[in-house]
Amino acid sequence: MKLEEAKRDLYRRKAKEEGYRSRAAFKLLQLNNKYRIIRAGYSVVDIGAAPGGWLEVAAELVGQRGVVVGVDIVPVKPVGKNAKIILEDVTSAEFPSKVQSALGRGKADCVLADMSPKLSGIWDMDHFKQIELCQRVVDILPEILASGGSNVMKAFHGEELDPLIKRLRNSFHRVEISKPDASRSESSEVYLVSMDFTGRVQARPSEDLPEEHQSEQQPDSTESDWQSDRLT
Ligand SMILES: C[S@@+](CC[C@H](N)C(=O)[O-])C[C@H]1O[C@@H](n2cnc3c(N)ncnc32)[C@H](O)[C@@H]1O
Repeated sequence: MKLEEAKRDLYRRKAKEEGYRSRAAFKLLQLNNKYRIIRAGYSVVDIGAAPGGWLEVAAELVGQRGVVVGVDIVPVKPVGKNAKIILEDVTSAEFPSKVQSALGRGKADCVLADMSPKLSGIWDMDHFKQIELCQRVVDILPEILASGGSNVMKAFHGEELDPLIKRLRNSFHRVEISKPDASRSESSEVYLVSMDFTGRVQARPSEDLPEEHQSEQQPDSTESDWQSDRLT
């Protein structure tokens, strides 16, 4: 068995044993062990929460004094008393106000975004769509994230990654690029961990999409980690 397959099996088995809905849960656990972005009593927003692995981890970490708001365009099964779930698209105009009212006590201490669009297999296109979702999260951070708070975001490699990182560096005092062990090394995702939010974000670099997307395929472009992540 190849090393990567063995790793995937290991995390799938661990997720089953420890009762998590997806092996993605270990990505957040490993990121949190390294950066301590979620603590007891925190308010956390989890964007792109289905099937709910990160939501389960975040709910455990914040404990009963904390609150987690999970949002997705597909339904998420309930997690626990301290986790609220909203069915909403991050691009909708109502998204920030719905999140604010679910938080119910000011802005979040941490915003998570592990979003993946539906993948077409055309690498450039998938990359642009995914980074567009990330840029949308940055746009709304001032409305949902408290100053001093942190953000963890999945981003796909490609030419739009650098402008996204630059924008984050402008908005946070510290930005780290991380690849937790639970993320397959051949997958094209990285995690951007941004800490100490300034409260303000820079305007977007450009809203234009290139007119032509080359159909360059990358080895991992059609297989999304999260589709194979689901245990239920
Ligand atoms: C990788 S999965 C998230 C896995 C999750 N972190 C876990 O641990 O179970 C990506 C999610 O992003 C969601 N998503 C994609 N586009 C979205 C959008 N526009 N608004 C909200 N969620 C979106 C998908 O529905 C999908 O459930």
